[in-house]
Amino acid sequence: MAQILGIYGSPRKGGNSDILLDALLASARDAGAETTVLYSRKLKIHGCLECGGCDETGTCVIRDDMDQVYEAISRASAVVLSSPVFFYGFPSELKALVDRCQALWSGRLLRKQGAARKVYDSGTGWLLAVGASRGENLFSGCELAARYFCDALDREYRGGLFYRRVEKKGAISDHPTALSEARALGGRIALELSQHLET
Ligand SMILES: Cc1cc2nc3c(=O)[nH]c(=O)nc-3n(C[C@H](O)[C@H](O)[C@H](O)COP(=O)(O)O)c2cc1C
Repeated sequence: MAQILGIYGSPRKGGNSDILLDALLASARDAGAETTVLYSRKLKIHGCLECGGCDETGTCVIRDDMDQVYEAISRASAVVLSSPVFFYGFPSELKALVDRCQALWSGRLLRKQGAARKVYDSGTGWLLAVGASRGENLFSGCELAARYFCDALDREYRGGLFYRRVEKKGAISDHPTALSEARALGGRIALELSQHLET
């Protein structure tokens, strides 16, 4: 069965990005997908040491909760990150998780050269993001990070949903379209995965 991995990136339990990802995953399950979840706030993940250990092996030298993240990523057909914007980037817990995917980046470099690196064989990646302000570039940092996170994971980055002017805990629930758009995206991802399995 198609598996969707949802990675909750906020330190705030029950906050806006949690609510969005809950809606997306519930709808994906309704459409027949299997879902698994990881909460970066619950994981103890050391930052990347930039030791170069993974350059030769594609495997990180550190053993911590990142092991369960590598495992979950390897089983997922689609990965959905959900995050608030913190200083135009990801919160530190999620950033540590993303940085530790440098080992997957190294592994991909070892496996794929030249034109093969333009092909993504491991599924898709998506981003849900919320921020308090309204600036044009509000999501640029998170989106670039998500794009290259997907590259490391050998996944095609497919974009996502982005909501400005959302700050108070739970405020996303009052947004006129956000939850229905998150549910629609969950259904769409589940459908895509089921069609992919049939071909
Ligand atoms: C440490 C910190 C940094 C933040 N930085 C930004 C920012 O750079 N731009 C912005 O628009 N909102 C910023 N915010 C606001 C959050 O993105 C916003 O409140 C969001 O809705 C929180 O989502 P959550 O409930 O999923 O954590 C910041 C909030 C915190 C606590």
